[in-house]
Amino acid sequence: MLEPTLRRLTRAARPWTALALGLVAACAAEPPTDLERGATWVADAATRREVLERSLVNPDNGYSALRLERYTEDLWGALPVWNPRARPVVVGDLGQPVPTPDAGWRPIGLDVPWEDAALADLGARVFTDYPAQVEPALWVALTDADAPARFGLWIDGDRVGGLVWAETPGGVQLAFSCASCHAVFGDDGPRLGAPNHAFDYGALLDASRGGVHTSASRWGPGRVDVTPDDVANPTVIADLRAVRFAERLNRAATLDNDLMALTARLETAVITNSGQAVRPPRELVFALAWYLWSLGDDLAELDEAAPAAALYRRECGGCHLPPGLAGPPIALAEVGTDPTVGESPWRGTGAYQTPSLRGVVDRARLLAAGGVDSLEALLDPQRTEGGHRYGQTLDDAERELLLALLRGLR
Ligand code: HEC
Ligand code: HEC
Repeated sequence: MLEPTLRRLTRAARPWTALALGLVAACAAEPPTDLERGATWVADAATRREVLERSLVNPDNGYSALRLERYTEDLWGALPVWNPRARPVVVGDLGQPVPTPDAGWRPIGLDVPWEDAALADLGARVFTDYPAQVEPALWVALTDADAPARFGLWIDGDRVGGLVWAETPGGVQLAFSCASCHAVFGDDGPRLGAPNHAFDYGALLDASRGGVHTSASRWGPGRVDVTPDDVANPTVIADLRAVRFAERLNRAATLDNDLMALTARLETAVITNSGQAVRPPRELVFALAWYLWSLGDDLAELDEAAPAAALYRRECGGCHLPPGLAGPPIALAEVGTDPTVGESPWRGTGAYQTPSLRGVVDRARLLAAGGVDSLEALLDPQRTEGGHRYGQTLDDAERELLLALLRGLR
């Protein structure tokens, strides 16, 4: 299944590999396109290592140290490739025994042309159907028809929470897809990439252990403790539609962002989420990043004609810069919000990502630690949650105008 694509890729990528190695750098008349960069990344280990090293902001945190040590051809590069036969979890599975694989179970088909539309389609399929993270605890969300809703997992037609059955040597396993945490299905249709801030992963974990209360019960909906740093620092689920606008990736501003850095981040996330047991097919990872990169196109831009546009520029625009409405990271002490997430010895860099405000209306928890639940609360001068004291000296009329502008960002 993989072979033909890889062969074609290697062929297509050869000149760019040479470029990356600097052999013909002098003749490099035109810079490679993003698709050519992607092909080189898939084909060439030295390029992948360089992308990774360049993206790590703080080489001393645990996230960077692990990758600098293990992201080599003979360690993580030698892991078995994870693309098992799988099928989506459907409503008919609720309350039923674990299904047996049949001819309808398939790996993700990777043999697509290396072209914009075909890769974006593949990425979209990966986003909803690839078993990105095996999670045995998910069985508690499938015990009866009401179980998914108890944990904030969505139902869309036949699909349940973007969950996937995957065939493994040890038997059939339940897994998250990206869409489990990063999609919302409202009355007005699907919003792929928007954060599922209803999903209560902590409650699900505790329920799967027979209702014990661990620190996970304090995450609440929309937050996940993603770091193995022994610090309780649950982080809000990210809005991936805006990922292209981010200057840094992760709330703790762990990585310098560009398309290739995002690709590397996704590859290593699947590896670490598997306990470093498997790695994803690389063309699948690039397709996923390529797809995510396109999601920002559908988000509204700032309405420069709105009465509050000048207010926005004065109060907010110095950090949340148009057109992406994101910006450089801000030191934890300067923004002054709950620093727990940013201080993580695993992901920390001393600063918070300045998140894009494009699509902000669809987020139910705001700020890295999720301490504020609405735009109104964020701008309220009486707010008790500390930090981010911007726009709080506005009078009531100005604040209403600014809120009206922000409510258009969806
Ligand atoms: C169990 C829930 C969960 C699943 C499943 C999940 N994520 Fe996430 N994701 C999160 C959380 C929580 C964060 C916030 C982490 C942070 O900021 O440090 C996040 C952050 C991200 C970010 C950083 C975005 C930014 O702007 O900084 C990217 C990119 C991302 N996820 C992509 C994916 C992709 C692609 C998949 C599928 C392969 C996936 N995630 C699966 C919970 C999840
Ligand atoms: C000095 C830079 C700076 C200014 C000025 C600023 N922000 Fe922010 N903003 C940030 C940073 C940094 C964060 C992330 C803080 C955190 O995660 O705890 C943030 C977070 C936010 C969030 C939460 C988004 C999310 O997805 O969690 C919103 C909404 C927001 N800002 C709106 C505004 C508005 C509206 C203004 C103007 C009134 C403004 N900001 C002014 C730096 C700034």
